Amino acid sequence: MTTGPSLQAVVRETGAEFIDLGAGRGDSLVASMVVSGRRGVGVDIDRNKVARAQARGRPVVEGSILDLPADLEVRFATADNVLEHLASLDEVEVAVAEARRVAREFLVIRHPSFDDEEHLERLHLRRYWTDWHGHRCHALLPDLLGIFERVGAVSWEIRPTRRIVDAADPAILPSVAPPDQQVYDAACHGPKPSIRFERPIYEAYDILVGFTDPVTATFAPPNLATCRVDRPRIVLRDEDVGWPARRRRDLRAAGFLAADKVGGLRARRSS
Ligand SMILES: C[S@@+](CC[C@H](N)C(=O)[O-])C[C@H]1O[C@@H](n2cnc3c(N)ncnc32)[C@H](O)[C@@H]1O
Repeated sequence: MTTGPSLQAVVRETGAEFIDLGAGRGDSLVASMVVSGRRGVGVDIDRNKVARAQARGRPVVEGSILDLPADLEVRFATADNVLEHLASLDEVEVAVAEARRVAREFLVIRHPSFDDEEHLERLHLRRYWTDWHGHRCHALLPDLLGIFERVGAVSWEIRPTRRIVDAADPAILPSVAPPDQQVYDAACHGPKPSIRFERPIYEAYDILVGFTDPVTATFAPPNLATCRVDRPRIVLRDEDVGWPARRRRDLRAAGFLAADKVGGLRARRSS
C-alpha cells in the first residue's frame, strides 16, 4: 500500500514544474533540477528507494509511472535510465503515454543503447548493460520512435551521449563475461579482441520528446533550447555528442549542487 502524501499534493505544495519518473533515490531528480533550474518531484515504485530519497530531503513519492494520478499536470517530465527497467515494450508505451498525458510541454529521456546488440555479438562482444538483470526491456530506437508517434508526440530529437569507437572501450566486454558486470576488468572478463568499430556504436541516448509545437524547451541545455524542432527528426551526428554524458560526470564532481559548476554543464551548440 502506498503511504504518505499523494504525488499531486507534493507537486502542489512544492510548486514543482516537473516530475522525474522512476526517480529512485532522487539523484536524477536533483540533477534535473540543477540542469533545468526548476523544481521537481520524483515518483518511484521502490518503497526502499523512496524512503532513502525522503531521508535525504528529496521529494520522491511512491507510485507507478504506469498509472499516474488522473488529475496530475506538470510542465514537463524526465525519465533517466528508467524505461529499460519496465517489463515490456507495451509498458514502455504506457509510461510514455502517461508522461504525454500529464506533461504539457515535453519529456526528456535518458536511455541506454541496445541497438547493435547482434552486431556486437557477431564480434563476440557486448556492452555490459545488455546483460543486466534489471534491464528487462531492450527498446531499440525504432521501437521508441514508433511509441512517440503513437502517443501523439509532435517532435523528437535524439542525441547519443557518447560514441564507442573500439573494443578497448571499458563499456565493452567479451560476450562470454558473466551477467551483471560493470566496466571491463581483464582479470574477471578475460581478453578482448582488438577491433575498431566501423559503424557507430553508442553508449546511450538523450531524447527530447516534444508535446507542443514548437517545443519551448527550457531544459537548460542550450543545444536543445535552440532546436525548437518543427518536425520529428533524429540527430545522430558525432559532433552532437556532448552535454549529457558530461552532465552526469560534472554533477558528480560538483557534488550535484555546486552552482559555480553548472555552467560547466553546457555544451557547444549544434549547427
Ligand atoms: C536505474 S534506476 C534510475 C533511478 C534514477 N532515475 C537515477 O537515474 O538515479 C530505475 C528506477 O526505475 C524504477 N521503476 C521501475 N519500474 C517502475 C515503475 N513502474 N514505476 C515507477 N518506478 C519504476 C526503479 O524502482 C528504479 O528506481
